[in-house]
Amino acid sequence: EMLEKGGYDHFMLKEIYEQPRSIKDSMRGRIYPNEGKLQLSGLKQYEEKFKNADRIIIVACGTSWHAGLVGEYLIEEFARVPVEVEYASEFRYRNPIISEKDIVIAISQSGETADTMAAIELAKERGATIFGICNVVGSSIPRLTHAGVYTHAGPEIGVASTKAFTAQVTVLTLIAFYVAQIKGTVTTGKLVELLTELESIPTLVEKALKANDLIVKIAEELKDSRNCLFLGRGSGFPVALEGALKLKEISYIHAEGYPAAEMKHGPIALIDAEMPVIVIATKNSSYEKVISNIQEVKARKGIVIAIVTEGDTDVKNMADYTIEIPHADEAFLPLIATIPLQLLSYHIAVMRGCNVDQPRNLAKSVTVE
Ligand code: G6P
Repeated sequence: EMLEKGGYDHFMLKEIYEQPRSIKDSMRGRIYPNEGKLQLSGLKQYEEKFKNADRIIIVACGTSWHAGLVGEYLIEEFARVPVEVEYASEFRYRNPIISEKDIVIAISQSGETADTMAAIELAKERGATIFGICNVVGSSIPRLTHAGVYTHAGPEIGVASTKAFTAQVTVLTLIAFYVAQIKGTVTTGKLVELLTELESIPTLVEKALKANDLIVKIAEELKDSRNCLFLGRGSGFPVALEGALKLKEISYIHAEGYPAAEMKHGPIALIDAEMPVIVIATKNSSYEKVISNIQEVKARKGIVIAIVTEGDTDVKNMADYTIEIPHADEAFLPLIATIPLQLLSYHIAVMRGCNVDQPRNLAKSVTVE
């Protein structure tokens, strides 16, 4: 087993470190940065459908649902198609309104999640075109869908999803840009820019992984916390949700992810000197607003751990701890900002003596309702 773990203590850590590779594999052969072009053979046949789609509905569970939220941000921003993201389990029991002009994208690492499969069957019955984003080749979901795009993350063993998530986000980025290309909502010049940056993401992820030693020290400080709050805005919001999910899954610390601006409508009541607040505070469109959220937390003596853009000084002066990540366009932020949060959960869980790869009560794939 040690051999399978490639020298890492746990599969989860190995999989976290595989991300520069798995992200690259998920875009390989699909992007042509110099020409500002993308090719997704699975979707080619459905170009007209995408062009005329009234709506895209994303269905998924767990971490895959978080990837869906990133997808919503990306598809609406670049392809200008309205997107709804649904928990598969809720969607299937809500008598949803679906038309033949709707596209459903089902996201699933395993391709075997029962609720996601049932949501697909329902949408199919009602005439929607169904695409899949799956990691396991030949699994059930790719067989149920009309077409799809595989993620190439390789087998994921750790129950808490890491590299499958970033691979899903990579593929959703490709889909957003692909539909933008078909619909002409983004110029070729802009696509050249975006794809060139996308191609550099694996290198930036590698840089983000270098914060590991610092993260070990921060984990030491946080490991006995009973609660943890994660805040983000824009594309940083799903990152906050995913950060919180990861922490609760493997360390059993109660954690919640929130859109930063919603803090004042509830979670702020919980903030005291015992409450760590992890904030995605990178230099994006909402930077200034997030800074004021940090000030609100500090005014109540909360412990602020901020994920910041390399070279940031403003947040550094306010936060208790800062973790730097390389600068990237807001579109790519989730691919990079997720990395330190995965490492933080991992180290906290290890320090608490938890079974990181097989957390209690959780299953890698939930094939029952
Ligand atoms: C389980 C796993 C999660 C996963 C979720 C959805 O809860 O523990 O890691 O995100 O199922 O699984 P899927 O295979 O459909 O992505």
